Amino acid sequence: MSGAALVTGCAGFIGSKVTELLLEQGRRVVGVDNVNDTYDPGLKEWRLGRLVERKGFEFQRADVTDAAAMARLFDEQRRSAEGTPFGAVVNLAARAGVRQSLVDPKAYFDTNVYGALNLLELCRKHGIKKYVLASSSSVYGARNGIQRQAFREDDDTSKPLSPYASSKKSAETLCYTYYYLYGQDVSVLRFFTVYGPAGRPDMSLFRFVKWVHEGEPVRVFGDGTQSRDFTYVEDIARGVVAAMRPMGFEIINLGSDAPVALNEAIRVVSNAVGKKAVVKYEPPQEADVPATWADITKARRLLDWAPKTNFEEGIGRAARWYRDNRDWAKTISTA
Ligand SMILES: NC(=O)c1ccc[n+]([C@@H]2O[C@H](COP(=O)([O-])OP(=O)(O)OC[C@H]3O[C@@H](n4cnc5c(N)ncnc54)[C@H](O)[C@@H]3O)[C@@H](O)[C@H]2O)c1
Repeated sequence: MSGAALVTGCAGFIGSKVTELLLEQGRRVVGVDNVNDTYDPGLKEWRLGRLVERKGFEFQRADVTDAAAMARLFDEQRRSAEGTPFGAVVNLAARAGVRQSLVDPKAYFDTNVYGALNLLELCRKHGIKKYVLASSSSVYGARNGIQRQAFREDDDTSKPLSPYASSKKSAETLCYTYYYLYGQDVSVLRFFTVYGPAGRPDMSLFRFVKWVHEGEPVRVFGDGTQSRDFTYVEDIARGVVAAMRPMGFEIINLGSDAPVALNEAIRVVSNAVGKKAVVKYEPPQEADVPATWADITKARRLLDWAPKTNFEEGIGRAARWYRDNRDWAKTISTA
């Protein structure tokens, strides 16, 4: 890939890691983020603070739903790069989080679908070769009760169970349309529950680490037997960068292929933190799926990708990050 990469959602959990990896590889990155307050923006500023010091990084505070602002950004980059504005667009900006999407579904569609569309249009207009879309394991829904089988990319995804999942599925189909009509090269990546240092405070593992550390009750929706194919953030970032290669149109799972039940996850967190967890079970949430599990045969074949970090190691690093940053990390709201 020649030219800068545009990474949207660069202040986010995954976007900041993808940006870091691209910069490490000597690539130039223009990062876009509106630094919204869907969770503590202080955490986003912390991640950004580590990026802005680095050579090759340029930050633009902007909203991907603002078509005019996005068009200006592409025009400016084209002028300064004297050619195509970007070598690739990696679209990670999103309203993420399944449960919150039931509260404000429109915001999810605005960013996850119309934002994605704005960027696809600009790729078409400027002849940008590569588009990478962050999608999600949530598009698999409950798989009609089939739970003991890994999810494959060609499984039925026509029954998403939340506005979030539905918005991701919609963006996937838009990508296909741009591939079909205009030959846009797209990698759609379905991430499976990503975790790691400086993770999202609305997600279970960040909360578990914080709650166990602070001696607060660990709240679990349901009986804790539901399982997730937790995937370490640096493995995901490596997969995203690998998927920036040309491939036509492909949908690829990025997961661990090693599901862990929430009760087991709490045990591992408790060991890593060195404190006993007091678990409080609450009624299950309707939009939660019972299990996720990635079949990663395709990622191995097309991207030569496999996860390198096992769950204990990853949780150890997430717990260490929390301990090292505890003075301010304990003030991050998990509400
Ligand atoms: N973390 C996971 O487990 C997971 C799983 C599946 C898919 N994903 C997807 O991966 C991507 C990154 O997720 P994340 O966990 O890093 O979430 P995140 O919320 O930490 O990052 C998303 C970033 O996008 C920014 N953003 C949101 N709306 C925007 C807009 N309209 N304009 C510009 N910026 C905007 C946010 O400020 C945030 O910094 C998302 O597309 C998400 O749906 C994440």
